[in-house]
Amino acid sequence: MIRNPKISELFKLYKIERSQFKFDRLSIFSFLKYRSLIYVFEEDQIIKGYYLAYEENSSYYLESIAVNYKYVNKGVGKKLLNHFLSYPCDNFTLHVDPTNTVALNLYRRYGFNIIGYEVSFYENGNLALYMEKCK
Ligand SMILES: CC(C)(COP(=O)(O)OP(=O)(O)OC[C@H]1O[C@@H](n2cnc3c(N)ncnc32)[C@H](O)[C@@H]1OP(=O)(O)O)[C@@H](O)C(=O)NCCC(=O)NCCS
Repeated sequence: MIRNPKISELFKLYKIERSQFKFDRLSIFSFLKYRSLIYVFEEDQIIKGYYLAYEENSSYYLESIAVNYKYVNKGVGKKLLNHFLSYPCDNFTLHVDPTNTVALNLYRRYGFNIIGYEVSFYENGNLALYMEKCK
């Protein structure tokens, strides 16, 4: 089931974020300040992954997506991405580290194209690819 998290569950998302990102951790808590949308994937009463997104310049931007390391490669990321792409919008965008081949390949398979890049996008100085999918 994909749903919005309760406030009391945010620490669980924070832990997933900490375990999956070594740098550029957004912090779920600070994200609440913005008008972002947060969704979680829950199965067997366990929150297995989440994504954060927001609308920006008539595009729906995927700010962060992560699956608990115990449950990766079991289809959770695809379910979250399908949910993200069901948003009533014609244009979807995201940034991805080009060395993150699992995520990059996943986005490609879902029809995202590289339309640019930003140098020093991440805290560690890494470049980010900017990707877009139009319906
Ligand atoms: C990227 C991420 C969200 C994908 O979630 P997931 O639940 O593992 O992905 P899925 O099980 O739905 O698999 C999606 C595809 O990736 C492949 N995949 C997943 N993990 C993989 C791995 N470790 N090695 C190789 N391929 C992998 C799957 O085989 C599947 O490919 P397919 O479309 O050919 O069937 C997850 O790996 C993650 O949390 N990574 C760390 C955080 C991150 O990098 N987020 C993205 C930032 S831009």
